[in-house]
Amino acid sequence: MGLASLFRRKPRLSEEPDRTITVDFHSHLLPGIDDGAKTVEDSIELIRELQYQGIKKIITTPHILGDLYPNNPETIRAAEAKVQSRLKEEGIDMEFHPAAEYYLDEYFLSLLERGDELMLFDDKTILIETNYVEKPEYLEQTIFDMTIDGYTVILAHPERYHYLIGQHKRIEKLFDTGVKFQVNLISFTGKYSPQIKQTADFIANNEMIHYLGSDIHHMGHARLITEFKRSERYQELMELPIMNNSLTA
Ligand SMILES: [Fe+2]
Repeated sequence: MGLASLFRRKPRLSEEPDRTITVDFHSHLLPGIDDGAKTVEDSIELIRELQYQGIKKIITTPHILGDLYPNNPETIRAAEAKVQSRLKEEGIDMEFHPAAEYYLDEYFLSLLERGDELMLFDDKTILIETNYVEKPEYLEQTIFDMTIDGYTVILAHPERYHYLIGQHKRIEKLFDTGVKFQVNLISFTGKYSPQIKQTADFIANNEMIHYLGSDIHHMGHARLITEFKRSERYQELMELPIMNNSLTA
């Protein structure tokens, strides 16, 4: 390798002419409040990598999960303020908003029942996840009830739940409830597992995919996605009617 190529700048993903996603709305970038970024420095490093991938707007989604990550609008906004001021100090041009990833459990149902403030985007759009092993028996009923109440419900990474992996009929049935599917970019790399990749491919190839998310927790995830975005498979996905870019905070 000659000297010239050693110093050649990496092509910026954002300069590539192909269609790409400019809005990412599933990540764990707020410092110290879940299993994602630990410090503001981590947050900034991850945000810079997303910017490098061509992301212009981030809606970050810390876990809200009963006793494990008992976040609420106050804890989330306090952590957001730290990131916002550091973004300003460093002159990073990134639209950055907080929302949340709600774990579907009794605690979440009690929030709904009490009418507590929820961290939403697009007015009444909400990101939920479920237990990875067992399907909550009230999943469909909750989606139905929330839809009646005017919510748009997005299910995070359906391809990762054991009760859906390889279960094509069950996936189609769930899709028919009107819930929106957000598949993780990393699932297409096969790094979680070959079965999760196959399930992600099934969802995408049958056009049941509404959104793509990074679900970034740390730099390992971020780098995997940077690499994936250079692949032909990513460009194929960009031919699908993915709706990320129309989401507002
Ligand atoms: Fe997540």
